[in-house]
Amino acid sequence: MTRVRLFRREDAPAVAELIERCLREVNSRDYPAELIERMCAHFTTERLAQLAVERQVFVAEWDEVVGTVSRDGNKVFTMFVHPGAIGRGVGRRLIGHVEELAAADGFDHMETGASITGHGFYRRLGYVDVRTSDTEFGLNHILRKPLSRQGGPGESA
Ligand SMILES: CC(C)(COP(=O)(O)OP(=O)(O)OC[C@H]1O[C@@H](n2cnc3c(N)ncnc32)[C@H](O)[C@@H]1OP(=O)(O)O)[C@@H](O)C(=O)NCCC(=O)NCCS
Repeated sequence: MTRVRLFRREDAPAVAELIERCLREVNSRDYPAELIERMCAHFTTERLAQLAVERQVFVAEWDEVVGTVSRDGNKVFTMFVHPGAIGRGVGRRLIGHVEELAAADGFDHMETGASITGHGFYRRLGYVDVRTSDTEFGLNHILRKPLSRQGGPGESA
């Protein structure tokens, strides 16, 4: 059973390791080695702890951390699922979680910058391409998905 909770500072080493494994074992199919190295160097334990101050960071847990995502308003960042847990619904669960929070905050759409590797996943979840963008970490697909407001005045959640 996948449980989603807020990131705690002590999760930082496990999340950094998870991201590094994803980058080396999964994203490396789509990006050159030099870029993968730069991304690995970016997502350090310290950087993740700092990110959690700037954004809402979540982890998905089985017995241990198997995925992470972060949100700033209606924007999705750092979506990674452990290579050993890919294809088991963890990514869908994490995105559903941040979408619900954004909808409850009144946003009418969600936006993400997807890697080449993550593009098909977001399309499967109903995200639609808006444009592409060149970032310090290579090509990104910017996608959006409309959000329906959960509950409203006079409605129960
Ligand atoms: C992309 C990623 C987050 C998907 O997580 P996941 O837990 O494997 O995804 P789920 O199992 O929840 O899949 C949800 C749906 O998306 C589909 N899907 C997953 N990855 C897909 C892909 N690359 N292309 C097309 N569809 C995909 C699944 O088949 C599933 O469809 P279904 O529910 O209709 O059967 C994960 O593969 C990952 O971390 N990849 C490496 C890091 C990365 O690229 N992150 C994205 C950065 S933008």
